[in-house]
Amino acid sequence: MLSTAIEKALNKQITIEAESSQIYLAMASWAEVQGLGGVAEFMYAQSDEEREHMLKLFRYVNERGGHSQVSKLSAPDTEFGSFKDMFTTLFEHEVFVSQSINNLVDIALTEKDYATHNFLQWYVAEQIEEEAQARTILDKIKLIGNEKSGLYLFDNDIKQFAMVRNVQ
Ligand code: FEO
Repeated sequence: MLSTAIEKALNKQITIEAESSQIYLAMASWAEVQGLGGVAEFMYAQSDEEREHMLKLFRYVNERGGHSQVSKLSAPDTEFGSFKDMFTTLFEHEVFVSQSINNLVDIALTEKDYATHNFLQWYVAEQIEEEAQARTILDKIKLIGNEKSGLYLFDNDIKQFAMVRNVQ
């Protein structure tokens, strides 16, 4: 059985993951209208992943005798400046999510909820991967700079990134 504090914190994380999915969906749309199909595919895949993160938490809360909540979500931005700005936003968002997961781990320990602590380890590992991936992409963008040809190659390259993540 979940304590009230854990249930509340997990439901808050459910909202964060759902909002992450919406943010990346908005990024997918923005990239698509800019004509960068590869980046758009990557963002669609990211958005799907975030929904999976949300669902995994959602099912866990009910499985442990809590009540998963579907709550109102904030509307994401619709414009993202440049591709560099957009991936910087993505990276910063993932850092924020990692902090939120760490906070949850803290609460699980305080509440002596070792099952939830164990469950959260998957998220801890996932966040390391997501931050590393965002950092790698940002490094690539810095190398490309503002060159059109570089952007074309990057758009192709990132498609593979999305595919690799999907088969894992
Ligand atoms: Fe579910 Fe990218 O954090």
